[in-house]
Amino acid sequence: MSAHGEPRPLKALSAGPLVGTADVPGDKSISHRSLILGAMAVGETKIEGLLEGQDVLDTGRAMAAFGADVVNYGGGSWSVHGVGVGGFAEPDQVIDCGNSGTGVRLIMGAMATSPIAATFTGDASLNKRPMGRVTEPLSLFGAKSYGRSMGRLPLTIIGAKNAVPVRYKSPVPSAQVKSAVMLAGLNAPGETVVIESEPTRDHSERMLAGFGAVVTTEDTDEGRVITLKGQPELKPQSITVPRDPSSAAFPVCAALIVEGSDVLVPRIGLNPTRAGLFYTLQDMGADLTFENMREEGGEPMADLRARFSPNLKGIDVPPERAASMIDEYPILSVVASFAEGVTKMHGVKELRVKESDRIDAMATGLRAAGVTVEDGEDWWHVHGRGGSVPGGVTCASHLDHRIAMSFLILGMAAQNPVGVDDAGPIATSFPIFEDLMGNLGAQFERPNP
Ligand code: S3P
Repeated sequence: MSAHGEPRPLKALSAGPLVGTADVPGDKSISHRSLILGAMAVGETKIEGLLEGQDVLDTGRAMAAFGADVVNYGGGSWSVHGVGVGGFAEPDQVIDCGNSGTGVRLIMGAMATSPIAATFTGDASLNKRPMGRVTEPLSLFGAKSYGRSMGRLPLTIIGAKNAVPVRYKSPVPSAQVKSAVMLAGLNAPGETVVIESEPTRDHSERMLAGFGAVVTTEDTDEGRVITLKGQPELKPQSITVPRDPSSAAFPVCAALIVEGSDVLVPRIGLNPTRAGLFYTLQDMGADLTFENMREEGGEPMADLRARFSPNLKGIDVPPERAASMIDEYPILSVVASFAEGVTKMHGVKELRVKESDRIDAMATGLRAAGVTVEDGEDWWHVHGRGGSVPGGVTCASHLDHRIAMSFLILGMAAQNPVGVDDAGPIATSFPIFEDLMGNLGAQFERPNP
């Protein structure tokens, strides 16, 4: 079943060269945070270029349920009249975050230090994912949570009446956990501190500072220490959401493996906590260049140019790079299938608790498509076939947008078409994927029901 409706099977056929410009949608992480921080500011936050994927739309509806006035002016232009830190109203309905781990975890953090209760649920994928990683630190602020076994949704949080600040060392490399703690810390007095042993995406830190909170980051022997001063008045902002490097990954990787391709993907954020895939592809010998390097809105940005790269080599992906490319391993495994030699990916246990178990989902589909894949709890090796992958399979997308898109890209470069049982989840993060890839030259076929 699709996240929101009936399954939508889709097949990608072997494509001719992919050529042209790919204008990918706004960044999903920054879109969620724009709506949530806008709802916690006092006054009107204006947002341009918001990703209108289902995940973000669900977060927008949730912010309205907590009392913010969320207005969609069309074409990615939105505004949020916030209620201020500590100003959330108690929602009168269950908050359905659909497929979105980011949405639910950040919102749980944002409400956990207000004296209100809220019940959260999601689709079949989200309701399997671990929430204890967030409810545990939230309990230190004084919030209570009642969920299913292993902390899974549906789950009710009763926010702390008199929250205390927290010092928390996250046992998992997760920007969602870090952000939930920081958002909860907004309505606690004193200083809330989060320590992460591996740096993860830092959009919350950057955006909180932009909204006027006092946030400091220090690299120490213990790890990266982030300190937030509680109970600020957040000032509304005008935000232009940069384009999503995680979405850019799909046309970029497709261009590298489809013969004759040359694709330009403009205005992609190259925040170092997000750009790991692009450096990994360059290490593999990809013809991938960063053009017009510049800074926009405080973030490094470039136009990416990717050309067909027939001499890709398998590499050992540095595990310390994992957090900066965590969402990109599925599509990297597709590129690795076309390389010469083995691509080794280690230190990636988190892939097992994403929208699906991404190692298992990709390994199963790639093996069926003729690629040798070995895997263990926190690693996997893809044995590249040096340019020719048989394909000719239909793969399960497991309610996971990135799995669905990865297999469709595989179909564009494989010898035989590759389908997915459900392309519906793609709408959570990249609603224009099919049209955008079609405009570059990809061909899709909708199998008869
Ligand atoms: C995200 C953090 C990452 C990432 C997700 C978006 C965020 O999840 O996989 O797509 O916006 O904070 P984890 O925090 O679980 O690593």
